[in-house]
Amino acid sequence: MYKSIPGTRDILPDEVFLWQEVEDISRGVFARYNYKECRPPLIEEAALFDRSLGESSEIVQKQMFLIKNKEELYCLRPEATASIIRAYIENSLDKTKGFLKLYYMGPMFRLERPQKGRLRQFYHIGCEAIGSEAPELDAEVIALADNLLKSFSIDNYTLKINSLGCSKDRSGLTEGLRDALKPELSNLCEDCHLRFKKNILRILDCKNESCRKVIEKINISDRHLCPECKEHFSLVKFGLDNLGICYEITPRLVRGLDYYTRTVFEISHQDLGSQDALGAGGRYDNLVKELGGPQLGAVGFAFGVERLLLVTKLEGRKAAGEKLVYAISLGDKAKAHSQKLLANLRRNGITCDTDYENKSLKGAMRKANDLKARLVLILGEDELRDNTVTLKDMLSGQQKQVLRDKLIEEIGKAIC
Ligand code: HAM
Repeated sequence: MYKSIPGTRDILPDEVFLWQEVEDISRGVFARYNYKECRPPLIEEAALFDRSLGESSEIVQKQMFLIKNKEELYCLRPEATASIIRAYIENSLDKTKGFLKLYYMGPMFRLERPQKGRLRQFYHIGCEAIGSEAPELDAEVIALADNLLKSFSIDNYTLKINSLGCSKDRSGLTEGLRDALKPELSNLCEDCHLRFKKNILRILDCKNESCRKVIEKINISDRHLCPECKEHFSLVKFGLDNLGICYEITPRLVRGLDYYTRTVFEISHQDLGSQDALGAGGRYDNLVKELGGPQLGAVGFAFGVERLLLVTKLEGRKAAGEKLVYAISLGDKAKAHSQKLLANLRRNGITCDTDYENKSLKGAMRKANDLKARLVLILGEDELRDNTVTLKDMLSGQQKQVLRDKLIEEIGKAIC
């Protein structure tokens, strides 16, 4: 028997309602902030991510699902920000649309060691606002993330924010960290030794106990920020205060991807255990240019849907069965009539189904019950003769004969 690949999972019909509800809510909230959906492909050139996330990022180093195709090296996208920016530039949206707000939903792929909340195929709901460096936009994007969480009935989350500053400030931060961490190298794990050489900011994300102790000791402030970036961050905080969004300033929050500049944020939830980030994002003012477009600021975030579902209080939309009409036909002649009847009901927008397993009346009734059908429609010899159907209300248990040309009206009355 074949099994799904570790770190991937089937989303079965019973849980898909919850997924659909979260997706529908997201579409509604994104629309209210004037975001439009964009659907980039799931496969991209691997170089797109090397360039944007950074050669030394954990994702590029260890987690890319690579696909070799003759001379080309493709990959399953590990995230969508780079894809969205590629699409924005490739389709000249900078010229035709200018400032643009885009959202996306779909699977991402990272070759990770699977555990609770950490999958190899997982889903993002995210957005990118491209074409502005305005700090009010950072505040709006963070408020949008907050609004989404509230709409998903999620509470007890923590929003952490920080500013990395511009590229120059980031180098300053890196240098400051290098000086502070050099004397502590012997207390850092093997991975962090490598990070020290290649991407020192990543050390701040290390979960290793002894590394955490070292990190907690070192003093990180906003000293690395130039006056413009300091002012930008002040205005982001002002915007969040103005909108009544609670946040914690976390100088150790640096995020693992190279494209971030200035504002970065992460939203964590206490019930998620070690993989506690529900979502994260930030500003990336150099990426559009880096990928061949004009100099344009941008900011966005992504939520991990599986993690949202671990903490949401939503219960999923009503089961489909609540509106299901289930037809049971007795005998071949009735079956042919039922076939046409179902086609007519569907043309009139009624959800209906029938038995395809040649069940007895009792067996078919049991099936209707299992499917939580709202109404059962029985068509036998008597009904054919009288041009009626027997309509059984599965909630009240009552049944009655209904003339066939009154059927749609009667179903409408019962279901609404
Ligand atoms: P990220 O932090 O890598 O950011 O991913 C965002 C969220 O995806 C995480 O906070 C987490 O909830 C979820 N996630 C990440 N990896 C996994 C995994 N292996 N299994 C399950 N869930 C996972 C980004 O990807 C950026 N593109 C976000 C962004 C958008 N920044 C600016 N715009």
